Amino acid sequence: MREKKLKPDVAANLLRSATEAMKNAYAPYSKFRVGAAILLSNGKIFSGCNVENASYGMTNCAERTAIFSAVARLGPKIEIRAVSVVNDQGVPCSPCGACRQVIYEFGPNATIFFQGADGPKQAHITELLPEGFRLQ
Ligand code: THU
Repeated sequence: MREKKLKPDVAANLLRSATEAMKNAYAPYSKFRVGAAILLSNGKIFSGCNVENASYGMTNCAERTAIFSAVARLGPKIEIRAVSVVNDQGVPCSPCGACRQVIYEFGPNATIFFQGADGPKQAHITELLPEGFRLQ
């Protein structure tokens, strides 16, 4: 199922929230600051940044920070309509595999806005994550 196109002002708000959150990134190791914002089906927006750790594998990406913040605030019944991802270097950056799976959990119809190789891009989550895992 495809999502309806976001209104330009909503898409702009989502982008602004992601950019704002990016400023809070804790990225002393990679120096790569990332911000993400999610739009829920109830219209609310939650944002997050990457939070790194000296034990590198403990790093949390911006996308998952945003999603976990939304669940922490609203509970488990959230539905993600769209995700916006930005980075401070303006380089291509789509959500990593782990984040795609987490987005899919709460947004099987989500649209993802990110920086592609040829500029801003948008894709359905199932284009980024075909055959995402679901526990029935
Ligand atoms: N990162 C994100 O936060 N989101 C992405 O979509 C890609 C990667 C972070 C993780 C790590 O802190 C840094 O970028 C470099 O991998």
